[in-house]
Amino acid sequence: MIRVLDKGIEIDCPPGDPILFALLDRGVNITSVCGGNCSCGTCNIEVLEGLENLPAIGPDEARVLSKIKRQGPNVRLSCQSRPTGDVTIRIRPL
Ligand code: FES
Repeated sequence: MIRVLDKGIEIDCPPGDPILFALLDRGVNITSVCGGNCSCGTCNIEVLEGLENLPAIGPDEARVLSKIKRQGPNVRLSCQSRPTGDVTIRIRPL
């Protein structure tokens, strides 16, 4: 389950699916300039709870995260984040 704090909604996310596509399927407005190809960084989210339910950051995600202005220990790319359990996120404005 993905809980989107700033939207006040909860979304089912099939195991292994990226958060980005679960959000888009539900009609949540989130920017994804590269369409989920891990190159733009615009799909970044802040993970408020459940960071342990996401896989470790891979080299491609790390490269993109290093280029965006908004960084922090809980910032992830939603297109690369495939939760294995519950997460609570905030969609970060551009
Ligand atoms: S949609 Fe471009 S990096 Fe995620």
